[in-house]
Amino acid sequence: MTRKLSALIVGAGHRAMVYAGYALRHPDELAIVGVADPSPLRRAAAAARFNLTPAQCHESAAALAALPRQADFVINGTMDRDHVPTSLPLLAAGYDILLEKPFATTEDELWQLARAARRHGRKISICHVLRYAPFYAAIRQEVIRGTIGDLLNVQAVEHVSYHHMAVGFVRGKWNRQDRCGSSMLMSKSCHDLDLIAWMKSGVRPVQVSSVGGNFQFRPEQAPPGAGTRCLVDCPIEADCLYSARKHYIDHPERWGFYVWAGLEHLHNPTLEDKIASLKGDNPYGRCVWKCDNDVVDHQSVAIGFADGCTATLNMIGGSAKPSRSLHLIGTRGEIQGVFEDSRFVIRHLDPRPGHEYAERVVDLKVGGDMTGAQGGHGGGDLRLIGDFVRTLRGETPSISSTTLEDSLSGHLIGLGADRARTTGSVVSIATN
Ligand SMILES: NC(=O)c1ccc[n+]([C@@H]2O[C@H](COP(=O)([O-])OP(=O)(O)OC[C@H]3O[C@@H](n4cnc5c(N)ncnc54)[C@H](O)[C@@H]3O)[C@@H](O)[C@H]2O)c1
Repeated sequence: MTRKLSALIVGAGHRAMVYAGYALRHPDELAIVGVADPSPLRRAAAAARFNLTPAQCHESAAALAALPRQADFVINGTMDRDHVPTSLPLLAAGYDILLEKPFATTEDELWQLARAARRHGRKISICHVLRYAPFYAAIRQEVIRGTIGDLLNVQAVEHVSYHHMAVGFVRGKWNRQDRCGSSMLMSKSCHDLDLIAWMKSGVRPVQVSSVGGNFQFRPEQAPPGAGTRCLVDCPIEADCLYSARKHYIDHPERWGFYVWAGLEHLHNPTLEDKIASLKGDNPYGRCVWKCDNDVVDHQSVAIGFADGCTATLNMIGGSAKPSRSLHLIGTRGEIQGVFEDSRFVIRHLDPRPGHEYAERVVDLKVGGDMTGAQGGHGGGDLRLIGDFVRTLRGETPSISSTTLEDSLSGHLIGLGADRARTTGSVVSIATN
């Protein structure tokens, strides 16, 4: 018999509800026994889904932390800038925490959280879900085995599709650092920086430099005649690649949890409700060239590790196809693959006469970054919470385990890269 754990949802938004869903799939392993969220609508939705009583519904993380401990751990799915302020009192109240990324928005916050977790002796796992996707877990396993020798270079690329870019970083919640707390590099590609640091686990990143900016989504780049709201005053809407009608009405299932968040009070919003919302004050109805965004749309990062290994990340928003790729070069060979293809190639040096290299394809035969039977991020979402539950039960964590301590390097690279980009300097990384 496995010990059944209990958890509380803190921030009952899109992400926390995905992880909490593990309790419905595995009721023998996990029960959701409460929710904390200032939004009455979100508290009510969580209460209905997990059968919670009014006494199990709390108005904030702080209100929950003021009570005696109610569960084994909390799932903290608040927004970026709330991660540390909400987690500190919960750590003091004795909770272990499954915490969304980016787990801190500044280096000060990062160290504040790390010190608090050490002081209270609590476990924090960061939702670096891609470590749990079979593609990345299998590559990490090859690196641990030494299949390609010592890593001397890592190249990661993230292409953020045009519709994801527009919904997240131009019109949406992560479009201004002063509002959400994070840069685009941290809110989007902290996963990829974490994967780079994970491939080099145990070796400190020591230096970072970075360039980038907002190439496309600014008023000077607007097509001639563009209005300010697609469905209100735009004569070129029918020809526009970023029309809100095309992105959100013609693709009703795509990004609905962001675009229709303002209609949550309606049980089942109709097409007319949605069109009226885009014509009204819904931020997703705005022209992408005339928003209040201040984050980059592309950024490149160069990293140096203590053992001399180098790495690069290229994050480019506005691509036709979403795609993540990884290329590792080691002293004995290389690994190269595209996440969405669920396959990678292992090449070895082969100096025999008539040969140059030997090649083996590893095909994982699972979907890419799609919501499948195992949940989103190539199955990473639900595997991550499953691993956290097993770790708290005392079982051995998987190789993908994303403890706070093991997640510091990737975040320090990202925060350092943003400082390097904005100051035009090479930044040294202090890792303790
Ligand atoms: N791991 C991933 O791949 C991944 C993917 C997307 C988003 N994220 C991250 O997940 C986080 C959540 O994103 P989301 O879209 O689900 O957010 P959301 O806005 O849907 O949910 C956040 C919730 O937190 C609540 N909240 C605010 N202050 C609170 C407080 N003091 N106490 C308790 N609750 C409070 C809000 O009312 C809201 O319901 C973000 O940090 C985001 O960057 C991670």
